[in-house]
Amino acid sequence: MKAKISLLNFTRVFCSMRNAVQNAKPYSEVPTVSVPKFILRNLPGGKYYKKSLKEIQESFYNEFGNIFKLPAMFGKPEMIFIYKADDFETTSRAEGALPIRMSFDTLKYYRATKQSEVYAEYGSLATSDGEKWYKTRSQVNPIMLQPKVVQMYTKQIDEVSKEFVQIMRDIKDDKNEMPKDFKDYISRWSIESIATIAVEKRLNILSGKTDDERGKKFINVTLQFFEKLSDFEMKPSIWRYYETKAFKELMEVYDSMTSIIFSYVDEAIKRFENEETKGTNEIQEESVLRKLLKVNKNLAFVVASDLLVSDLTTSVVVFTLYLLAKNPEKQEKLRSELMSIMTNKNSPIKSENMKNLPYLRAVIKESLRIFPIGSGNTRNLSKDVVLAGYHVPKDTMVFMNAYIELSNPKYYPEPEKFIPERWLRDEKYENWRSKEINPFAFLPFGFGARSCIGKRFGELQIENIIMNIIRNFKLEWNYPDMKVRSLLANFPDSDLKFKITEV
Ligand code: HEM
Repeated sequence: MKAKISLLNFTRVFCSMRNAVQNAKPYSEVPTVSVPKFILRNLPGGKYYKKSLKEIQESFYNEFGNIFKLPAMFGKPEMIFIYKADDFETTSRAEGALPIRMSFDTLKYYRATKQSEVYAEYGSLATSDGEKWYKTRSQVNPIMLQPKVVQMYTKQIDEVSKEFVQIMRDIKDDKNEMPKDFKDYISRWSIESIATIAVEKRLNILSGKTDDERGKKFINVTLQFFEKLSDFEMKPSIWRYYETKAFKELMEVYDSMTSIIFSYVDEAIKRFENEETKGTNEIQEESVLRKLLKVNKNLAFVVASDLLVSDLTTSVVVFTLYLLAKNPEKQEKLRSELMSIMTNKNSPIKSENMKNLPYLRAVIKESLRIFPIGSGNTRNLSKDVVLAGYHVPKDTMVFMNAYIELSNPKYYPEPEKFIPERWLRDEKYENWRSKEINPFAFLPFGFGARSCIGKRFGELQIENIIMNIIRNFKLEWNYPDMKVRSLLANFPDSDLKFKITEV
């Protein structure tokens, strides 16, 4: 009987999906602009000229509504833009067993042509698809998503953050403000802490004043990496047909980063071998790098390179500090939570101290809502679906733009306000968050089998640095609102002159 009912249900769902596809408006009628019109709009005087990715996508929404088709051009496929959480859900659930996300084409090209041997068996998590992606991901999941493995790094991450706090004291000016280029300090903090995981090495680049030539070069190319890569991904370019000067420069950046990362992994291998012969290996639980090396040396190269180029924590930290600086009462509430757990502001933060911090987690979530790290996520459809009332066929790339829902007052009352309380499970605050919210409206780390592999490490890094800074300093922001630069990810675009006062 049970089997009969579920078969009946399945048939009903299947038929209703088929009917929905049949009753939908045809794909050819999805609102769009022609290629010449789109190019004209990007030229001086045009609607999209010098506009950020965020502004251009919002302009699609304002002009065309819930769905827009960007035609194929310059070697890039046609793409659909959608804006509603229900459509994000339909798209995400149609991702198939081997999900495909829009990739960084130039990095993909570099790895396929210049590093083909290393990438022959294990694909990159960030830039490959299909079976090769899966081969890597299935090895890495049980290592990187295991809380026990992540917790092992709390001590190293905490040491890096504590050194960073000291550097903040050293670099403050006579008004107790951080220097204009404070963002570069935070970027170096982010690279330094992820290197303790990816290549098990302290790079000692926090202050930016290292004597180590390799470390200096690594900072230099890493700071250029995202900007240069975004340029090629976002703007029309002929690199597929002709290698321009800018393209050659980009390849050099990839080359330097890759060879430095590989040299760090090689060094780690020698270090581990030495420890084994001398019997000095004190690590109780095997580290990420050791576990990867046990499987295959190239797997370790591939994953270390992915981890060192995929980290988005810098922007999250800057935006969170900014929101706390602008909202002193929320900052004070967070400080009380932290001080109630650890009364000594300089005590080491251990994993047991990080278990019960609901307000800290709510602060970070609210920061990711107000300042999402990217404009959205992408998925290739593994089957035909209906989006915003239109039939969209299998194998279409869909861009799920996050901004509209994240600032939708229906879901988040007074969306422009920084209200971490929205995320607390406390009836007192339930007016700040709608019960009808579709969870697909807020997916900062993506969805499903292809979601962020660094989520737990990223959270550990972000929570730890925020804890250390807020326990030590009162933060103020005495300047006009921070500007945001929207490349493939979002970055602060103002001088980060936070004022700090010792707590
Ligand atoms: C707060 C910080 C971070 C945010 C908001 C973030 C967000 C994301 C998002 C949205 C994706 C795409 C997921 C999808 O397609 O469903 C992603 C993928 C990825 N992230 Fe993160 N990430 C963060 C930190 C990190 C860190 C610290 C690492 C490295 C340790 C990392 C490594 C990766 C990698 C390798 C992928 C590709 C995974 C795959 O396709 O299999 N991320 N991240």
